[in-house]
Amino acid sequence: ATDFSWQKFSDTAELDQALATQLAQELRRDLERRDAACLALSGGGTPKGMFHLLSQQALPWQRVSLTLVDERWVPREHADSNEAMLRSNLLQNAASDAHFIGLKTAHAQAAEGVEEAASRIAQIARPFTAVVLGMGSDGHCASWFPGAENLAQLLDPNRSELVAATQPPKAPHARMTLSLSAVLASQQIIIHITGTEKKAVLEEAISKNYPIAAVLQQRQTPVSIWWAPND
Ligand code: 6PG
Repeated sequence: ATDFSWQKFSDTAELDQALATQLAQELRRDLERRDAACLALSGGGTPKGMFHLLSQQALPWQRVSLTLVDERWVPREHADSNEAMLRSNLLQNAASDAHFIGLKTAHAQAAEGVEEAASRIAQIARPFTAVVLGMGSDGHCASWFPGAENLAQLLDPNRSELVAATQPPKAPHARMTLSLSAVLASQQIIIHITGTEKKAVLEEAISKNYPIAAVLQQRQTPVSIWWAPND
């Protein structure tokens, strides 16, 4: 049996507000116990509105590190860059004081930059305060894509690599991604999805063995699913 809870909202505005408030609360709670807190955040389109609301939360942001769950291997200024999305939606307002650690490195290929990215991630406060995952309609999360050559390695909870490179079989760009073991080293995991299609995909994730099933089936880190229908 697995152990995850659903938080359902009537629209994305309500969801974004509730999730931004929840993440700020988790950061505050964590900062009462330790000097630094850290969120690992997914890119894509879903979190944009939530990021904007989170950026306005009053918090000791200079004690907060933010990093990405995964990155598409494109120039930083490219429209598909998760770093660019996070910078323009979250690293403004109060949150501009946060410490951002991107997965982009000086290397031309994702595979060549893995060690450098892993050492940056290793320096930040872990376990993460929370990891926020999105999900694609093929059941991928982070950059764990169905059919990727190294999917089994990415999802092996006993491997110690924090970060790996991967080539999604169908998506255009190579990726750099946290591994399952890195994602599980968190106080909690939040899956943030919208729309009836993704809800159905998530409901059948375990029976169809989608990559996100690896998160839903583990018992080490609590998982909650935050969902609203699309506007
Ligand atoms: C990425 C991700 C990825 C994302 C889903 C959902 O860089 O692609 O981090 O796992 O969360 O693909 O993407 P959307 O929110 O755009 O639907």
